[in-house]
Amino acid sequence: MIVCVCRRVSDREIARHARAGMDFDDIQFELGVATQCGQCEGCARDVVAQCSATQPVAAIQLASSILESRVWPARQPAAAA
Ligand code: FES
Repeated sequence: MIVCVCRRVSDREIARHARAGMDFDDIQFELGVATQCGQCEGCARDVVAQCSATQPVAAIQLASSILESRVWPARQPAAAA
């Protein structure tokens, strides 16, 4: 998903930089995210927070929310023999 329309920066690109240990300021400098209209800054910061190596709890919360989402099919109990 494109997070920054002005600079055409995706959430995957931001996440990849965050996982490499870069903070928001570094990513902003490197990719130019949130350097024009600024409307994407909150979303970009959220992506950095969720993917930062220094905040593994956020990654666990993200994984849990993905597993609990309605898109994921619920496990079916095994049929009794
Ligand atoms: S949408 Fe990112 S600076 Fe405009």
